[in-house]
Amino acid sequence: MAKLWAGRFKKETDQAVNAFNASIGVDQRMYREDIEGSMAHAAMLSRQGIITEEDGRQIRLGLQSILKDMDAGAISLTPEQYEDIHMANEQLLTERIGEAGKRLHTARSRNDQVALDLRLYVRREIGEIAGQITELLEELCTLAEANAETVMPGYTHLQRAQPITFGHHLMAYANMFRRDAKRLENCLEGMDEMPLGCGALAGTTYPIDREFAAGELGFSRVTDNSLDGVSDRDYCMELCGCLSILMVHLSRLSEEIILWCSWEFKFVELDDAFSTGSSIMPQKKNPDVCELIRGKAGRVFGDLQTLLVMMKGLPLAYNKDMQEDKEAVFDAIDTVKACLEVLTPMMATMTVLPDNMRAAARKGFLNATDCADYLTKKGLPFRDAYRAVGELVAICIETGHVLDDLPLDQYQAVCPLFEADVYQAIDLKTCVGERKSLGGPAPDEVRRQIQKIRAFLESRKSE
Ligand code: ARG
Repeated sequence: MAKLWAGRFKKETDQAVNAFNASIGVDQRMYREDIEGSMAHAAMLSRQGIITEEDGRQIRLGLQSILKDMDAGAISLTPEQYEDIHMANEQLLTERIGEAGKRLHTARSRNDQVALDLRLYVRREIGEIAGQITELLEELCTLAEANAETVMPGYTHLQRAQPITFGHHLMAYANMFRRDAKRLENCLEGMDEMPLGCGALAGTTYPIDREFAAGELGFSRVTDNSLDGVSDRDYCMELCGCLSILMVHLSRLSEEIILWCSWEFKFVELDDAFSTGSSIMPQKKNPDVCELIRGKAGRVFGDLQTLLVMMKGLPLAYNKDMQEDKEAVFDAIDTVKACLEVLTPMMATMTVLPDNMRAAARKGFLNATDCADYLTKKGLPFRDAYRAVGELVAICIETGHVLDDLPLDQYQAVCPLFEADVYQAIDLKTCVGERKSLGGPAPDEVRRQIQKIRAFLESRKSE
């Protein structure tokens, strides 16, 4: 098929070049945004008297019919026929409505067109991802509420450190995902500028009304410099940056679930529907979903890297290198959505095993700090208390005890300040319950944290 830009060429495009140059395979998923942008453009053109009312009307009707057929999957978009989605829609329009279709591209370039389409696409996808994060946060709050008193070991260096609750641990993740949601909101707010009307690079001589088109498309402002407007992909890098950080969080959570599912921990068991088996080992139940999320994090980091490197050497304004942006952006979006899609129901259906968590918390001297604090509260300086408990731990290790069952005379031999109430003070329930400091694991404090996340979600709903 003859190219829309065929005028100055004497030869057909080489077949390999055609295949190499075409981006329709990738950018066809923006058909809706491309049509939406063209509708607004056409409305603006006719409103400004740049095209007639009748042409404007024809164009809009034509675009609506294309949209309907695209939605129904009734149009095949091959690279032999169409270079990219922008050309495809324009060619289809002209096939359908004739002369008027050829007027659509007045005062516009594919450079501002693609810049607009991608913004519209990213804007919609950010909304979807934010919705998925909301669902995950709601699930984390539900789980944390049910486990506000479920004692588990807290770790540093993957060594048992101090007692916390499963609810407290989950709320750590909730805070990470709350920040992710906020970061995406910020990205959305920063990219809320419409590039249409920047033309190829230098604006246009036509009396366009960019503000009108921006209003039609739901943008708060227009981009303020035409060169920047067509060559700005900051929001793509920013989005991939946000998604990369989100993937870091998803990957860390996945890693912990993988650990928790192991026989070594056995803190949770995944539902059969969210686990997979082995082809040879009949006993296996593997957390493949988590491993895949952990693995896929790298893809999203790679997408960010692709964009950074793609942009860093480009002179202004548009360069074809930028056609590569979409694959990276789409991949990052698809990957994150796919991960969230399975993670939330996986968490909702997993079985928490509180007895195993508590049993693990009994070993590893998680209450050693509390034992030292007991002495400190009796007036001993913390350093001396620390040392005394260190000695007690050494005795326990030698004699096969835990602090909870070490006889009182042994305690008193190390420090005469110990009395019978030490056992109560180092009871795991006490240890957790007394950690009421803001942000700590005490059940009521965790409930406050849950409330705060829920208030965040609520404030987003009403916006
Ligand atoms: N398919 C192109 C892209 O994705 C559209 C813009 C092409 N503009 C141009 N002047 N070649 O970037």
